[in-house]
Amino acid sequence: MIHWRQLGIAVGLILSHSSFAEDIEVMALDIISYEDFIQEDPLSMDVLRNALLEKGIVGIRGVPGYKEKVLRFIDSARAFSALAEEVKEAYAPKEEETFLGYERGKEKFQRPDGSWVVDDLKVSYYAFVPENTQNKWPHELDLQTPFQDLGGVMHQMGLAVMQTIGLLDYQGGICLDDVPRVGRMLYYKKSENTIGDNPFWCGAHYDHSLFTTLVPAFYFSDGKLIAEPIEAGLFVKSTSDGVYRKVVANDPEVLLFQVGEFGQLVSNDAIHATEHRVHKAEGNVERYTMALFCDAPMDTVIHSTSVLTQDPRYGAQSGEACSYEHWSSETFKRFHVDKSK
Ligand SMILES: [Fe+2]
Repeated sequence: MIHWRQLGIAVGLILSHSSFAEDIEVMALDIISYEDFIQEDPLSMDVLRNALLEKGIVGIRGVPGYKEKVLRFIDSARAFSALAEEVKEAYAPKEEETFLGYERGKEKFQRPDGSWVVDDLKVSYYAFVPENTQNKWPHELDLQTPFQDLGGVMHQMGLAVMQTIGLLDYQGGICLDDVPRVGRMLYYKKSENTIGDNPFWCGAHYDHSLFTTLVPAFYFSDGKLIAEPIEAGLFVKSTSDGVYRKVVANDPEVLLFQVGEFGQLVSNDAIHATEHRVHKAEGNVERYTMALFCDAPMDTVIHSTSVLTQDPRYGAQSGEACSYEHWSSETFKRFHVDKSK
């Protein structure tokens, strides 16, 4: 089990680490407290809204029970990742199945020069939250309980933040009552030659759904918890000035929130989707985290006037209809690696 004290020591290390810091712009991450959030403290509400509008990311610290749940989850994610590859592959979806379960190196991202790169060091485990009969779980260990416990907190908090910023009030109102969230355990494998052909664990992209709740990442080297290396981690492109900045969130008390493309579409650009990427760490370092994506109901039909309607995935003119099902399936086609080809 990871102890908070271990991470506290690790946080101190980051400040004295290497010359990479000079080349990296660090974002001043806005974090509000859980108490201020639930009491709707007016100043904190302004901080939260402005952070999502201008920077595309915000944190809430001190959600009850969150820290214990995230530490247990990271333990089980590491235990699962340590299983033999053929054992894990048994939990990958079969041809005719959904995306649920284990996934390795299935996404590709487009570089500024137009070429496509596969994120071959990214490993995922997908499951619906709350628990759903379609989920598949490993028999070798209990990944389900910690995944669902953490996912439940992320689900609740993500919904509360979306309600606070009015994201569900557009397009005649969006009801999420029967919509399962998509939880994604993420494990980024160590890379011996870091820079090489692809300096990213995860290339620049937007999440395609409405909204994302995200756990700050945990890093390990030779089995030991370490601070986030200064060169690595989540980088977010600020909505206001278009500059990529590193999000330093070495704190297991903080839960992060980002905006997805469908959030931008429903709001007709009142709020912008968060462009982000994950930089690799040098050497023998692994990274674990969890994201929870909030889909709209598949039959949601919007008439957006967002600039994103110019994206071919929208499939219609500005102001014309597009369903969430269409947007999702077109996104999947663009970014998923089809190994049958
Ligand atoms: Fe993402």
